[in-house]
Amino acid sequence: MEYQAKELFAKHDVPVLPGQVAETPDEARRAAEAIGGQVVVKAQVKIGGRGKAGGVKLADDPDDAVAKSEAILGMDIKGHTVHRVLVTEASDIAEEYYVSFLLDRANRTFLAMASVEGGVEIEQLAAERPEALAMIPVDPLAGVDAAKAAEIADAAGFSADVRDQVVTILQQLWTVFTTEDATLVEVNPLVKTPDGKIVALDGKVSLDDNAAFRHDDHARFEDSAAADPLEARAKEKDLNYVKLSGEVGIIGNGAGLVMSTLDVVAYAGEEFNGVKPANFLDIGGGASAEVMANGLEIILSDPEVVSVFVNVFGGITACDAVANGIVHAFELLESRGDSVTKPLVVRLDGNNAEEGRRILADFVASAAAVNLEQVDTMDGAARRAAELAAAGK
Ligand SMILES: Nc1ncnc2c1ncn2[C@@H]1O[C@H](COP(=O)(O)OP(=O)(O)OP(=O)(O)O)[C@@H](O)[C@H]1O
Ligand SMILES: [Mg+2]
Repeated sequence: MEYQAKELFAKHDVPVLPGQVAETPDEARRAAEAIGGQVVVKAQVKIGGRGKAGGVKLADDPDDAVAKSEAILGMDIKGHTVHRVLVTEASDIAEEYYVSFLLDRANRTFLAMASVEGGVEIEQLAAERPEALAMIPVDPLAGVDAAKAAEIADAAGFSADVRDQVVTILQQLWTVFTTEDATLVEVNPLVKTPDGKIVALDGKVSLDDNAAFRHDDHARFEDSAAADPLEARAKEKDLNYVKLSGEVGIIGNGAGLVMSTLDVVAYAGEEFNGVKPANFLDIGGGASAEVMANGLEIILSDPEVVSVFVNVFGGITACDAVANGIVHAFELLESRGDSVTKPLVVRLDGNNAEEGRRILADFVASAAAVNLEQVDTMDGAARRAAELAAAGK
């Protein structure tokens, strides 16, 4: 969120205006009183286009800040509910610019983008007037020193009166980008005030989750209120899980296989009352019984799930190991007091598929209560899982 991005900016000396976060109109009043004069009340949500949606409003005094925060708090901006606002000093604006650093995956490098025509949506500028948006690759090893920052500023056409300040700010933003392990640092608008000062009036930072282990202080930026509770639990268990709204729980190994599984289940579901996949869950290559148990537990605790489709292609982890994992997962869940009652459809193929199928068949034969069916083909299994979901709905 903007206020969090600005916190990181301030930590690395990027100039920002004073501001305070408020969750109630009363807090907004106190913030406006502390700041003094005109303030801007800004919705704090992790989505762009807040201004256009009415989430950025000028307030003349503390009473007005109360009125404006009452209007903005609780507002829905593209599906994001506003729970807090940033009350910040209002600035006069002479010019609005755009600057950002980001990870350019396609070109396997970092990229700097800058324009002296900021304030507008950058996607629109890039589409309509690409010549107005400078794009300069940044070598990750060389980084952004004064010379590189000057190259970026000159490519964008910053005028001489602000060039030095912009060169400094670009280096500071690069420091934010690298030391905080970000994949995006964006300022839109970066403004020139009438007295010629450059300030970051807005800010957006995306942090790289893969680097979270070396930033204990980043955990506080997580929006746990907005996170889906099942996704939060899955994350605690290091599972690659995404909640969807459907009835067929999905477990597979490998992101590509799981994506295809979602497709075939959605396709089969068209025939069965429109049932859909309930989630994405990739348990990865070397899935142990415990990972299988954790995955099953998350999926089975989704009240929307009616049937489960386990779709595994044996590769590095052969099917017999996966089958043993499923058996142990049933036992583990039983011992945790969560015995499996929803029907499971399992499709095993690939390395040691026959041995895997035998293990599961023996398991089903030995325990009458186990509601598990095997289907040999992916399409057939998807159909059966969809059929069971439609029947049990
Ligand atoms: N502190 C401020 N003082 C004066 N004007 C401001 C201030 N903050 C924002 N504005 C004005 O409001 C416009 C929109 O604000 P901002 O860029 O923060 O939100 P946004 O771009 O609509 O949202 P998002 O970045 O989520 O797309 C700015 O371009 C600027 O003109
Ligand atoms: Mg903006």
